Amino acid sequence: MFNFTGKVAVVTGGGGVLCSIFSRALASYGAKVAVLDLNFEAAQRVAEDIRTNGGEALAVQCDVLSRESVLKAAERVQEVFGEWDILINGAGGNHPRGTLSREFFEPGDLEQKETFFDLDLEGFRFVFDLNLLGTIIPTQVFGREMARRGKGVIITIASMAAFRALTRVPAYAAAKAAVANFTQWLAVYLGKSGVRVNAIAPGFFLTQQNYRLLVAEDGSFTPRAQKILAHTPMGRLGEPQELIGTLLWLCDDEASGFVTGAIIPVDGGFLAYAGV
Ligand SMILES: NC(=O)c1ccc[n+]([C@@H]2O[C@H](COP(=O)([O-])OP(=O)(O)OC[C@H]3O[C@@H](n4cnc5c(N)ncnc54)[C@H](O)[C@@H]3O)[C@@H](O)[C@H]2O)c1
Repeated sequence: MFNFTGKVAVVTGGGGVLCSIFSRALASYGAKVAVLDLNFEAAQRVAEDIRTNGGEALAVQCDVLSRESVLKAAERVQEVFGEWDILINGAGGNHPRGTLSREFFEPGDLEQKETFFDLDLEGFRFVFDLNLLGTIIPTQVFGREMARRGKGVIITIASMAAFRALTRVPAYAAAKAAVANFTQWLAVYLGKSGVRVNAIAPGFFLTQQNYRLLVAEDGSFTPRAQKILAHTPMGRLGEPQELIGTLLWLCDDEASGFVTGAIIPVDGGFLAYAGV
């Protein structure tokens, strides 16, 4: 159904769990894929794997929080593949430094426990910046050329936390809400430019960045994971491959040419479920 032959896709965080799968999927439908990641080895593994399977891929080390680093990455992509058509802003995630150990404040916590009131601001800033500025900086750098050429697709990654303030992750929730809002803002701003901007809002998929929140040391699901399952009408976590259809649809101008400013949940019904 899909054919991205002749297109160049840039995927930030392309060495990670979800975005390595995104990179492979785009390559398998013909796109040349630039796999950008802070972790160069992870990016190399993904690019090599794509090439082994007959696709075209380039690994580039890139810190999405540094405009200089992103500009260098763009130069490298331009050198090897030429102009790009698709930008996937995948780098992001939560971090223990921006996470609280308890869901609810209780009297007495102030004396003995870590509370929101003492949350490490550097931790908060790290998570907030990684998700929001880590989307904005690559969008400025790669989006500029798209706007100049009058075509292109930009995809951001939101989260259930963008719609509902998930407990314990105040920085991540605030950042993803901001990413969703920015996606809509940019879609409007670029509405007449020929560049479409949309977000995928994944439900819960087991990956590195949420592993510690969802899986206990003995390998069983944590109480938090059990709550998520109970609140997911389909009764299970998502499989990363289940995001691919939405990704390809949003990247394909023929399939979604009139779709911009949308935030598409892929969540087994989590968002729709009121709990009763
Ligand atoms: N896993 C889930 O259930 C879930 C749910 C909703 C949204 N998301 C979002 O999906 C995206 C991908 O997450 P994932 O679960 O695959 O996580 P992951 O940790 O497997 O991948 C994230 C990748 O980003 C890279 N990265 C981190 N900091 C970077 C930086 N400064 N510059 C460049 N690259 C950097 C990491 O090296 C890693 O390869 C994130 O934005 C995450 O917030 C994930």
